[in-house]
Amino acid sequence: MANLEIITPDNPLLRRKARKAPQVTPELGTLIDDMIETMRAAQGVGLAAPQVARSLRLFVAEYAGPPENEGEQGPPPRLYVLINPETVRISDEMVEGTEGCLSIPGYAGTVERHEAITLKALDRQARPFRIKAKGWLARIFQHEMDHLDGVLFIDRASRVWRLEDEEEAPRLVG
Ligand code: NI
Repeated sequence: MANLEIITPDNPLLRRKARKAPQVTPELGTLIDDMIETMRAAQGVGLAAPQVARSLRLFVAEYAGPPENEGEQGPPPRLYVLINPETVRISDEMVEGTEGCLSIPGYAGTVERHEAITLKALDRQARPFRIKAKGWLARIFQHEMDHLDGVLFIDRASRVWRLEDEEEAPRLVG
């Protein structure tokens, strides 16, 4: 596995609409493994292929849901790999939250997202599946789906600010 370079907006690839992965090949599997390693090394909860300069419709995410009760330990993190994801359904309900982006380090913003989203995609074995996400996982998925179309959170944010040195990074950095 390899830790890949995460590109920033000065690289035009970040703004390009990505193309569908034509096939799930062993090379794509290697890219997925490298993206997982890169996401973990950067302490992100999601990473889309355009962020590592690959113009493909593919993202990975890893997220542990919140604990059921305050003070308790949450569930273990779950890893998601979505190849050629498409939106099947989105909720009308919108929620505001704070996001950051591995491609825009040092900034955070307030972004309104749909509260729930259902996606269909291929898994690593090229099998189609559907997944419904709510809350923060739905936010992660929408953030990563945007990356596949060259859209960044700063395009959607009602407010963007620079993180101070001691300020905690937002919970969603993808
Ligand atoms: Ni991002």
